[in-house]
Amino acid sequence: MTTLAILTAAGSGTRLGRDLPKALVTLDGFPLVVHAARRLASSGVVDSLVVTCPAGLDAVVRDIVAQDPHVDLPVRVVEGGATRQASVAAGLALAAPDDDVVLVHDAARPLAPPQLVRRVVAAVRAGHRAVVPGLPVTDTVKRIAPRDAATQAPVGPPVDRVVETPDRALLRAVQTPQGFDRALLERAHAGGAARSGSEGLAATDDAGLVEALGAAVHVVAGDAAALKITTERDLLVAALLLQEES
Ligand code: CTP
Ligand code: MG
Repeated sequence: MTTLAILTAAGSGTRLGRDLPKALVTLDGFPLVVHAARRLASSGVVDSLVVTCPAGLDAVVRDIVAQDPHVDLPVRVVEGGATRQASVAAGLALAAPDDDVVLVHDAARPLAPPQLVRRVVAAVRAGHRAVVPGLPVTDTVKRIAPRDAATQAPVGPPVDRVVETPDRALLRAVQTPQGFDRALLERAHAGGAARSGSEGLAATDDAGLVEALGAAVHVVAGDAAALKITTERDLLVAALLLQEES
């Protein structure tokens, strides 16, 4: 039985605002997607890799990932879809019969360490069929109501009404890689397929689709190094983390 990793790299990186897709932006001289693929490979628990790529960039992404000497795994590339959810579904369609565990990881988390990958896979192989890494939350988090024009004052800044303050001790900020029993992930994507076409409806993580089935999702300890690159500031933080590593 084998573990497939789907590495999502098909996003455009709008919030980063560069003139190339975020996964191809370099950090310490290497594209984010290469950093992420190297760490998946060096975990020792991944058997093959499917990378989702932006339209028209299959050959480029295949070359930079498959030819990297530190990515000693079979690599396939598939064009992603309109949303992350659609991209993962496209990757999942390439799972081989022997792939019983599937990891889904974002190229936008290039420094997720091999130990984290191993922890997620170990929890899935121990019988938890959907596993996400998560970190305790340091901010107090408020849930707000959808913004309502009627509650705005005629002057001053826009405001949102707070609905509740969840107990912070019971909150986790979740990361990738997320790990799944392959059959469960396939059912979850089939169940949520109708949502996959539009950014406003699509799931932002795969565990959310599993939850929508009513199936259990479990959290293992996350890692601060698995931070998500969204803005230029995140790239600066990642560069500092890499310096610390070396
Ligand atoms: N992703 C994908 N297919 C999409 C959208 C996103 O494979 N249609 C991937 C991204 O490449 C990224 C991960 O999903 O690795 C998380 O997405 P996000 O951080 O939102 O990246 P982008 O969508 O590229 O960034 P932005 O939302 O700022 O455009
Ligand atoms: Mg996005």
